[in-house]
Amino acid sequence: MNVVPRASQWGELIRPDRVHGSLYSDPAIFEAELQNIWYRIWVYVGHESEVPNANDYVVKSIGPQSVIMTRDEQGKVNLLLNRCSHRGNQVCSYDRGNARSFTCPFHSWTFANDGRLVGYAFPDGYEGQDKSKLALGRVTRVQSYRGFVFGSFAAEGPTLEEHLGGAAETIDRLVRFSPEGEVEVTAGFLKHRVKANWKFILENECDGYHPAFVHSSIFGVADSAIGKLYGGASTAVTRDYGNGHTEIDLRPEFRKRDAPMSWFGTTEERLPDYTARMKAAYGDQKAREIMIDGTPHVMIFPNLFIAEIQMFVIQPLAVDDSVQHVTALQFKGAPDMNRRLRQQTMGSVGPAGLLLADDSEMYERCHRGVLARIPEWIFLGRGERRERRDELGFKVGHVTDEIPSRGIWSHYRSLMEKP
Ligand code: FES
Ligand SMILES: [Fe+2]
Repeated sequence: MNVVPRASQWGELIRPDRVHGSLYSDPAIFEAELQNIWYRIWVYVGHESEVPNANDYVVKSIGPQSVIMTRDEQGKVNLLLNRCSHRGNQVCSYDRGNARSFTCPFHSWTFANDGRLVGYAFPDGYEGQDKSKLALGRVTRVQSYRGFVFGSFAAEGPTLEEHLGGAAETIDRLVRFSPEGEVEVTAGFLKHRVKANWKFILENECDGYHPAFVHSSIFGVADSAIGKLYGGASTAVTRDYGNGHTEIDLRPEFRKRDAPMSWFGTTEERLPDYTARMKAAYGDQKAREIMIDGTPHVMIFPNLFIAEIQMFVIQPLAVDDSVQHVTALQFKGAPDMNRRLRQQTMGSVGPAGLLLADDSEMYERCHRGVLARIPEWIFLGRGERRERRDELGFKVGHVTDEIPSRGIWSHYRSLMEKP
């Protein structure tokens, strides 16, 4: 196609039960997504715990753009664009560190960590210039929810709370797994690069149809009961929270098991310190419920995936090129739990882990597949006739149904149709 559809034409490519293959492969559509999604709505950037002290910084991204998340001397978190206001060079050369200022390597302009230009090299020659007009670019709006920092390039629009909507509760559900109610992002990131469109990854995260097949080898090797959660007889559900946020909710299965920590393949006895701290923090009954339910499996549109024990951040670089940044979740005040989280993360999605390797193979195969022009459409109709509403009014269906993909695409259409 290579022509971006007009607002009225997106419906020709996105139907309730199918989408056109060109949506994943057309470079012009990718450019339009940058404008209408990545550079407009709330996008997850980083976590406050990555910059705990004054002057800490960490380099993150919004789509292909490099963004420096800093904590300035006042303790405020800033999202600055990594682009010198002189001639465009990237001002920050390291992934993370502690610095009051950044000096551009090209001509040595220096910027404070709140973005202000504080000095030129050879200042004579700049008579009459106003330094305050030559600051680093900033992400227009910055807001955080329970430590998760989001940015939006749009000056106006929904608040972060409005964007998160019902999915905010999944983040609440995550942080309560810490006896202190806080997640820490301190385990370091692995980066997995795939030759695939970012939306194949987005959809895969809450696709409960594939694990029984794609991950049968790891479930077999690890002698894991996870496979059953995604079987035909599972009582787990998929949920569409609206705004593109989707979930696989495994709680019905874990509640049937009625065994604390079984979601994590372990027992209270094997984590006595953690269990004791949780009981002290929440009381016996509540701690037991939290530890039975486990952590959420939720995809916050468009790029933050909380995968029970890990966090993934999806970064699109080009129509057929994406990076998944992954880290083990760490819970404040839970060192014994955290050790296991890191170990299991290395085993499942580390360099030799099967789980992400299996998925990556699927995204890349899908991407190569959609380059074939016929039959043109991707079918997403599984479970359409058995959708229902949960007690809060969100659409839910069987764990293997394609409710998440349909929810993502209907929100995508509404974003792309906006001028
Ligand atoms: S490009 Fe940064 S100082 Fe010239
Ligand atoms: Fe998978």
